[in-house]
Parts: sequence; C-alpha cells; structure tokens
Amino acid sequence: MVGFSKLTVRDVPLEHKVVLVRADYNVPLDSNGNISDDLRIKASIPTLTYLLEQKCTVVVISHLGRPEGKEKRFSLRPVAKRLASLLDHHVAFVTDCIGDKVVQARKKASAGSILLLENLRFYPEEEANDEVFAQSLAQDSGARYFVQDGFGVVHRAHASTDAITHYVPSVAGLLLEKEVTTITHAMKSPERPLVAVLGGAKVSDKIHVIERFVKVADKIVIGGAMANTFLSYRGLSMGASILEPGQKDVIDAIYSAVRKKVGDARVDDFLILPRDVAVATSLDKKAERKVVPVGNISADEMALDAGDYAISVIVKEVLQAKTVVWNGTLGYAEIPAFAHASARLALALATQPQTTSIIGGGDTADFVLKWDGHDGNSFNHVSTGGGASLELMAGDPLPGVESLLSAPKSATLNSNKHKR
Ligand code: 3PG
Repeated sequence: MVGFSKLTVRDVPLEHKVVLVRADYNVPLDSNGNISDDLRIKASIPTLTYLLEQKCTVVVISHLGRPEGKEKRFSLRPVAKRLASLLDHHVAFVTDCIGDKVVQARKKASAGSILLLENLRFYPEEEANDEVFAQSLAQDSGARYFVQDGFGVVHRAHASTDAITHYVPSVAGLLLEKEVTTITHAMKSPERPLVAVLGGAKVSDKIHVIERFVKVADKIVIGGAMANTFLSYRGLSMGASILEPGQKDVIDAIYSAVRKKVGDARVDDFLILPRDVAVATSLDKKAERKVVPVGNISADEMALDAGDYAISVIVKEVLQAKTVVWNGTLGYAEIPAFAHASARLALALATQPQTTSIIGGGDTADFVLKWDGHDGNSFNHVSTGGGASLELMAGDPLPGVESLLSAPKSATLNSNKHKR
C-alpha cells in the first residue's frame, strides 16, 4: 500500500484535548427531511471512536447541502440524532458553529463528550474560505488540534478545509487516510490487470479521470450517457439519446492518447464502447427494455443502458481483472429495466472477492449501497466522496489534504506499520 504523506490522529498527542473534527455529513435527505443514506455518518465513526478512547472533547463540524443563509431544512440536527444512535453515545447539538453558543457548550462539555455544531454553510464565509470565520471556528471551539476527516469535501478550498489549518495544528482522520491511500494505491500501483469502468452522464465531468486512466489502466469500459457521446463521435446515429455537445476535441485527444499507448489495432479493445444498447422512447418508470445493435437506434429512441451483449463483455473484462475501479452508473439506473448493466457489474464484483473493487462515491455509491443492502460490504472500498474521489483519481491536488501537516518522510514510508 502506498504511504500517506500527512500526519494523522495517531501521530499527535490528543489525550484529554479539545479536538475539532471536520466531517462530511452532506447526506441525502428524503422529501420529509429524513436521512435516506447514512454511509457518510457511519464512515466517520472510527475516527470519533478513536478520539473518545483518547478522552478528547470532540467538536464536530460539517456542511449539509447548499443553503442560502440559515435555511432550517439544511439543519444538521437530524444528523446529531443519527450519529448518537450509531455511536451509542450522547451527541450534544449546538445551534450555531461559531460564537457564544459554541463557547458555552464547549465549556460545559467534559472529556469524552461529543458536540455537533450547526451547518457551516449557514455562513457564506465558509465557502469563501474566509480567514476571520476560520479563526472563529478554531477559537470558539477551543480546539488544540484540527482533524480533517471529511473526505467528500477535501476537493473544496473552504474555511473548514483550508483556512482553518492556519489557526490550529491540523492532521488527517482515519477515514481521510483510508480513502486517500486506497484510491491512490489503485491508481499508482494496482494489481493488474486494472480495468476502469466509467459511466455517468458527462464526458466533461470525467475528462481528467479518463486521461489518467488512459495512462494507468489496462482497459477502460465506457458506459452510461457518456457512451452515447462517444458512439455519436464514432459516427453512429443515436436517435433521441442524451448527448453532450462540444466534446469532439476532447474525444479526439483521448483517442490519440489511446492510439499512442496501444497502437491503432488495439484501440477498441482498450477503450471499450457498447456494441448494443437498451432503448426506450420515454423515461416512463414502466418503459420496456428493448435491446438493439448500436447501429439500429431509431430517431425516437433513447439509449438508456448497455445491451445484453455489451453487459457480457463488461462482465468478462471484470472477471479477468485483478483491480476494478468503477465510477459512474452504466445506464439510467433509476428505472429498473435500465439498471441491468450496473446491477450485473455490481454482482460480478461482489461475487469475486479476489478482485479489488473500488467504487467511486456519489451516484455510483448510492447505487451499490441500495443494490447491496449490506452497507457496501460486498466491495473492497465504497468511497464517501463524489467530486473528491474523481479529483483524487485524476491526480489533482486536494486542498483539504494539501493543507494538513506533512508526515516526516520516514513516517510516510513506514505508515502501514501503524495501522490498527
Ligand atoms: C459532496 O457531496 O460532494 C460534498 O459534500 C461536497 O459538496 P458540494 O458539492 O456542495 O461542495
């Protein structure tokens, strides 16, 4: 496993200290405001448990959604309740994240207690990476250390991921360390063959990731609506399918890099597009699945999933792989008739324990968690980060990681021996 270049909670003396922890509790809520998926809350438990064992006073901060000011529906109060029940430990909810309420709550808190502060994004200063706001977060919480454990948000340079580190010594939590080392290892020294399965809607969201996988993967499977754009580029008529305009230059560059890597003859064997697709004329939940070769899509039909032959190709590639990184659902998975490719891929990964399976966050994680029903335990790693996991896979620097204290070089090399 590649080493982690930052100090973590295990490297600093935290016993009996007040510790400020940045989690990413940006969890999906249903129409009644109930938490519909608590992966991110569960994923924060190892760090919080570790800090409680160290008898720390733990002050947790997070954002939820993209509120415009103090919008009650984005309150973190329901998260405090869920966290308390998952931890089986009282969690005191504080209705602000800076100011007197925080100071008073922290003064009352004893060692071994947890406070969750209200949504950071109730203040526009959070996203503005404001220094004064960051200083208030540090001072009002009384933190002696800051622990970054919100992997899902470290691709943002915000007050709670960047500026805060100017005011309090800052280290990584256990989730952040696990996400970064697992994904980085898969990109830098995977067990081969490494197959990347990339779906989702837009080529433009994934350009950097595709470019990186052209360099590091042994094969790339393209699916989802993104495949429509590739097929259209290849001259196929895609009927009424969703396409992303303006991607010609980008796809030209991708094919030219692929040709350079594998030679003209192997291009389609390396960058695999579906040969057949499942189509429908509407997005009706009851729409029927009809499979046609990619050359036979009628003007009123939309490609909504990989076809049965394309699915068998994907499964074959996955069964031959030693590492599979999957990012983006492979079809219109909201409608069961068009979730076949994603479900068959999930099944192939879940029933093949000898293959390392890394699932990107966001929609892909949502899909496999619902499909799996076991908190994603059928896979080696289900990331809690959407944008963050994509940027990490692409090799882009993550501001919320860069800003943490660096581990001495020798500690980085030996970091695995400290693993619990
Ligand atoms: C996410 O859900 O991807 C993170 O919590 C970041 O949220 P944002 O995209 O609103 O910054």
